[in-house]
Amino acid sequence: MKIVTLIGARPQIIKAAALSRAIKNRFSDEIQEVIIHTGQHYDTNMSQAFIDELGIPEPDYNLNIGSGSHGVQTAGMITGTEEILLREKPDYLVLYGDTNSTLAGAIAASKIHVPIAHIEAGLRSFNKSMPEEINRIMADHASTLLFSPTGTGLQNLIREGFDKDNLPPFTADHPGIFHCGDVMYDNSRYFRKIAEEKSDILKMQQLEGEPFFLATVHRDNNTDQPERLNAIFEAFLEISRESRTPLVLPLHPRTAKLLGKNLDNRLYHQLQQEENIRLIPPVSFLDMIILESRCEMVFTDSGGVQKEAYFFEKPAIILRSETEWKEIIEQGCGIIVNADRNKIIQAFEHFSRVRKELQFPPLFGDGKATEFIAGILLQNQS
Ligand code: UD1
Ligand code: UDP
Repeated sequence: MKIVTLIGARPQIIKAAALSRAIKNRFSDEIQEVIIHTGQHYDTNMSQAFIDELGIPEPDYNLNIGSGSHGVQTAGMITGTEEILLREKPDYLVLYGDTNSTLAGAIAASKIHVPIAHIEAGLRSFNKSMPEEINRIMADHASTLLFSPTGTGLQNLIREGFDKDNLPPFTADHPGIFHCGDVMYDNSRYFRKIAEEKSDILKMQQLEGEPFFLATVHRDNNTDQPERLNAIFEAFLEISRESRTPLVLPLHPRTAKLLGKNLDNRLYHQLQQEENIRLIPPVSFLDMIILESRCEMVFTDSGGVQKEAYFFEKPAIILRSETEWKEIIEQGCGIIVNADRNKIIQAFEHFSRVRKELQFPPLFGDGKATEFIAGILLQNQS
């Protein structure tokens, strides 16, 4: 069978590595994979570096869409993807997550009746002001095969009218929904050993054997609203100063571009001068694994990073008003603090006290989600 995989943003490139690896190792005689990169992310350290490092086949097509308003970006991707799907005639278009690339793929494929397999289906924040919430709902409702990483995701789909007892043959009107575990859990298990051997990030940052915190910030409502961005960075500054502990923050290009513009001048200069605040360019996935697995705790508004914090048994302070990964909160290993300076500091103090007592039972599958997905794709060739 032939699948076309659509990638575009950093996390999708990383997620796609897991299925490509399963196809290469187990299903290379049965599944041919064609890869489209929309070009949504294009800096080397947001895109090509992951393709090279994680052994993903070089994309067969790059739409080179780049940045733009939601409409401009998504429209360009729909046009480019449609053309390729008409040429390639795949059995499935495989989509990941909830970015504009995901939405574009869903619209392009569903209109010309190419069945869609959506990996990371069913996740909901119940906050439609997030572009991702719209993208994921639309992608799910256009899909034929829906693979949910968590039980919560499966329940969300059932609540929206999907029937878990549907039997093959599956179509967009009679879709199949599956709870299969998280492909990123597969990836972190697989790449951890490789990261231990190859990454030199701790040496580069002079953090070998030293305690440090890890943070990432990139959500549009945090970067684009000065009040929120200031509150988050004020808390970071206070925490790293008071605890005299470095806080490492690989900066998403969106954030890098907006820090100077949206932070108060005074705070911006304090951050530049504070030796314990380490604003660094985006790091590779192997470096990120090392930072996540060795840090004391994680501050993040990223979906992927809050989950990886859990995989590596670190508490996560979540800089959002809600999360799609509510199991982490229920387990007591994550706290939602929004962009509230006081709540960030309180959560930090809480985890500083209880960190060693936290339990991280497996919540995200058995590390074989991609093999399951490849098996279901094969059983349901269109
Ligand atoms: C996108 C996704 C978000 C995901 C994130 C992963 C949407 C709506 N959002 O957000 O769900 O969590 O990717 O990282 O799809 N930029 C560069 N170089 C790059 C890429 C981006 O400079 O290689 C800058 C540009 O100024 C661009 C901005 O970052 O305008 C935002 O990029 P964009 O892809 O539109 O959204 P993200 O914030 O990255
Ligand atoms: N990541 C990375 N380098 C970085 C920051 C993040 O490799 O400098 C990885 C991280 O480990 C996770 C993914 O990128 O696997 C998360 O992407 P991001 O936070 O951009 O998006 P989200 O998951 O929120 O959609």
